[in-house]
Amino acid sequence: GGETKARLLAAFPGYSEGFVRCQPGNLLMPLFFKKDWQTYFNFQLRNEDVFILSFPKSGTTWTQEMVWLIANNCDFQGAKKLLRERVPFLEDRTLGTEDSLKMFLEMSKKESESSVSSDIIIEPNYIDALPSPRYIKSHLPLSYLPPNLVDSCKVVYVARNPKDVAVSWYFHHLLDPIMNTNLTVEEFVEFFIRDEVLYAPYWTNLIDAWNMRNHPNFLFLFYEDLKMDLPAQLQRICRFLGKEELTVDQISALAIHLKFDNFKVNPSVNAQELQEAGYFKKDGNFIRKGQIGDWKNYFGERLNSQFDEWIEKCTQGTDLKFPQ
Ligand code: A3P
Repeated sequence: GGETKARLLAAFPGYSEGFVRCQPGNLLMPLFFKKDWQTYFNFQLRNEDVFILSFPKSGTTWTQEMVWLIANNCDFQGAKKLLRERVPFLEDRTLGTEDSLKMFLEMSKKESESSVSSDIIIEPNYIDALPSPRYIKSHLPLSYLPPNLVDSCKVVYVARNPKDVAVSWYFHHLLDPIMNTNLTVEEFVEFFIRDEVLYAPYWTNLIDAWNMRNHPNFLFLFYEDLKMDLPAQLQRICRFLGKEELTVDQISALAIHLKFDNFKVNPSVNAQELQEAGYFKKDGNFIRKGQIGDWKNYFGERLNSQFDEWIEKCTQGTDLKFPQ
């Protein structure tokens, strides 16, 4: 309603008028995603496609790199190409090239300046033009993706404790001038649990995926498991992709490559080219902290119990439990 809109406008000046609720599931998206945009995502699936899905800030980038490297027999040389070119982001119209990025920024600015609903649509045809095998990242919930997705190709989903997701999403908002926010972390988290941040609601995204976890084409990962026992999770990914078991040497090479401190300075994954080009702010890092439980540094007692109540309410009737 009007009240929510006013709240959003005040909280996220970068988006200005640019919010829209999409059905089903009341997903909150920037305006440049047209309401009935689902129809624009009718690209052709291929058997050999691998999708990497998540709610933002759940460890998607990390998982993309794991999946791509395992699928490509630990081709560390090939992994020097930008990750967003190797594993493009479905709902990103920029496709990672600098020209399209400029165009995108101009378009979203125009859209946010106009008060009428925009007719600009996503042109997902680039997906059809990508050579096989395709690796595609998306933050869309399963209900927004082709209904035959899981029967037609492979899906890797990564989930993370929502408290850490909320904090990480906040810092991402500080980094990205389009999102931009004047809120404090605690204020942002209150928007998060009201489902008033981009890509909210968090739980629909997660629970839809959780319900698919036993499907043979679906691999459900937890960020916390990746942190606590990466080798075991790498072997799971490997088996899932139908590759031969990773050798001890491959596991250790992957572990070094994927280690937070190395990842943070890896220009193929750390988005530094976006910072250099001025699309992300220069203070702050896309690969930020990489820890379990960073929320403890930001949540007061009241907010924490509010958050716990929200988790309790939203996971009722499911057997969803985070590893930590
Ligand atoms: P933090 O903000 O808590 O540090 P996404 O890729 O979905 O946007 O997720 C980003 C989160 O994953 C960030 O969390 C980021 O630091 C963390 N991350 C990225 N690479 C990582 C790595 N190699 N090891 C651990 N965490 C990593």
